[in-house]
Amino acid sequence: MPVIPRRQEEVFVCAQCRLGLAALMSRPYRVLFVCLGNICRSPAAEGVMRALVEAEGMAERITVRSAGTAGWHTGKLPDQRMRNAAQNRGYNLCSRARQVNEDELSANDLVLVMDQPNLRDVRSIDREGRHTAKIHLFCDFCTDHEEKEVPDPYYGGEQGFELVLDLLEDGCRGVLAHVRSTLA
Ligand code: 4NP
Repeated sequence: MPVIPRRQEEVFVCAQCRLGLAALMSRPYRVLFVCLGNICRSPAAEGVMRALVEAEGMAERITVRSAGTAGWHTGKLPDQRMRNAAQNRGYNLCSRARQVNEDELSANDLVLVMDQPNLRDVRSIDREGRHTAKIHLFCDFCTDHEEKEVPDPYYGGEQGFELVLDLLEDGCRGVLAHVRSTLA
């Protein structure tokens, strides 16, 4: 009798994402951006990343979504200030706010959080630590900026929204490069 591995994905596994080759080949790679309210940073990240993925012709292979650690704004469109700033750079933000839960962590391959409080909150949802390897700070993917977190722009002025977009445009290029290498 030949020896048949039980499942192919148990043989080839991405060290960072713990995602099996077979799983990667059979369905899109799923990226989830998470912030606090899901009305400023993470929906903007979703818009920037989706535009990049579409421009690179990878929309069939990568899905992009966002969620918040808090549920205060569930169902709302992104903050008007964030939408305006994004629109000025050509991004149309039209997602509706949702609250992250453990099922979301299971369903996605890469979970990118905007700041340390988000990281703490997402890790607390992942009580058994099953998803630790796929949860990262977004700014770890930035190459042109030194910031370690994407600052919350909600209580600040317009320039805060511009900085958010600067960081997102930088980091999303890094995220795409990472996903490409994972899918290659
Ligand atoms: P976000 O920004 O986490 O980037 O969506 C915030 C949005 C709303 C609130 C705080 C941050 N809030 O306190 O309602």
